[in-house]
Amino acid sequence: MANPRIRALTWWRKWAKRDWVIAAVGLTIILFSLTLLFDSRKPDDSSIFSRSSVDDHVPLTLLHRAKATGAFCLDGSLPAYHFQKGFGSGSNNWLLHLEGGGWCNSIGTCNRRKGSSLGSSKYMDRLVTFAGILSRHSSQNPDFYNWNKVKIRYCDGASFAGHPESEFKNGTKLFFRGQLIWEAIMDELLSLGLSNAKQALLTGCSAGGLATLIHCDDFRDHLPKDATVKCLADAGFFLDEPDILGSRTLRAFYDDVVKLQCLFPEEIIKNVRTPVFIVNPAYDFWQIQHVLVPIQSHPHGNWKRCRLSIKECNSSYIETLQGFRGSLLKALREFQKSEDGGIFINSCYIHCQTWLPETWHSPSSPRINNKTIAESVGDWYFNREASKLIDCAYPCNPTCYNMDFTGRL
Ligand SMILES: *[C@@H]1O[C@H](CO)[C@@H](O)[C@H](O)[C@H]1NC(C)=O
Ligand SMILES: *[C@@H]1O[C@H](CO)[C@@H](O)[C@H](O)[C@H]1NC(C)=O
Ligand SMILES: *[C@@H]1O[C@H](CO)[C@@H](O)[C@H](O)[C@H]1NC(C)=O
Repeated sequence: MANPRIRALTWWRKWAKRDWVIAAVGLTIILFSLTLLFDSRKPDDSSIFSRSSVDDHVPLTLLHRAKATGAFCLDGSLPAYHFQKGFGSGSNNWLLHLEGGGWCNSIGTCNRRKGSSLGSSKYMDRLVTFAGILSRHSSQNPDFYNWNKVKIRYCDGASFAGHPESEFKNGTKLFFRGQLIWEAIMDELLSLGLSNAKQALLTGCSAGGLATLIHCDDFRDHLPKDATVKCLADAGFFLDEPDILGSRTLRAFYDDVVKLQCLFPEEIIKNVRTPVFIVNPAYDFWQIQHVLVPIQSHPHGNWKRCRLSIKECNSSYIETLQGFRGSLLKALREFQKSEDGGIFINSCYIHCQTWLPETWHSPSSPRINNKTIAESVGDWYFNREASKLIDCAYPCNPTCYNMDFTGRL
């Protein structure tokens, strides 16, 4: 149990043996489609949504060097990334974004992923739009717009931390090579100029946010000693909380509770040496739907509408949600004291916020103390100002984008 990263990997190895799933397959896709369902009281939405041009579409590059080490996606295809070259004063600066999309940990669910972009590069879009923290427009991305940017596609099902030992056989061919993918990607980017980085930021959302925490120090260790290197985890702070019936959904499939202690971000983060910024909504809809109120926890459907839209929650349910927020703040209490850390916990019902222009930085973005997430992260990254922003409890912040899934009922 010496090295925290090894422990984290042990976790994933153990995890991969368990027949459990947090089903967030296609989260990215869902998020994209739900962008349209945003609470759209804000008048200037349309202008924000339509502000992408041909230059914002970045082509997919297959990671050919992955062949040498067997760093394959779940289906055995090559992993991939999208790269946009930096310019001007950003030429030697690098921002890496690890894609999210839940996890798979049974033969069945990992097998199903093989037929999607989350398990095979065969299904990945050849062009993706770089927006929010990946945008090359200073109006959308004031501090990082001209950096080299890389979106690393997620196709291993285990936050870039799976290990060959955990592969299932039984006639089903699956590759659990997340750790090798991470290493192969690093080799490739180092050869493309990352090895000369002056400033670098590793980011990711959801499962990619957790991957950011897991790989943060390793990222740091690959870069020049005098480079400024930091990590930003968006919606990757998964709580080790019981659900409304008291069951530990995120724990339920472990047989070794003691080892579990080092699994959750609140444990990982204690051991990360590199400066970290945590962006997380206090009412992360993914965690509410999968950790706090998973389907099986409300067999009579009482929570049906509330877990799809915070506006539908009555006062007793809001109280439960406030309890969840309290647990998040408690889990972050130690981290809050760290000198070089940053925090942005807004009281919104949403999940990822860094790669959507309307939540990252726009005239109608969610703000705390009148600061957008982009401004807070920039202040922290460049040491302009301490950035530890925690919102007052729901419903106090009128700048929130609150997701509303009830339209799908
Ligand atoms: C593989 O098959 C064997 C025998 O059919 C079974 O005992 C084992 O649990 C299976 N392994 C997995 C990971 O499903
Ligand atoms: C909230 O709704 C649930 C389910 O419909 C109900 O059991 C509970 O009493 C309600 N609470 C209040 C304060 O209305
Ligand atoms: C909030 O920030 C904007 C710039 O981002 C500024 O124009 C505005 O005056 C600020 N509002 C307040 C109340 O400070």
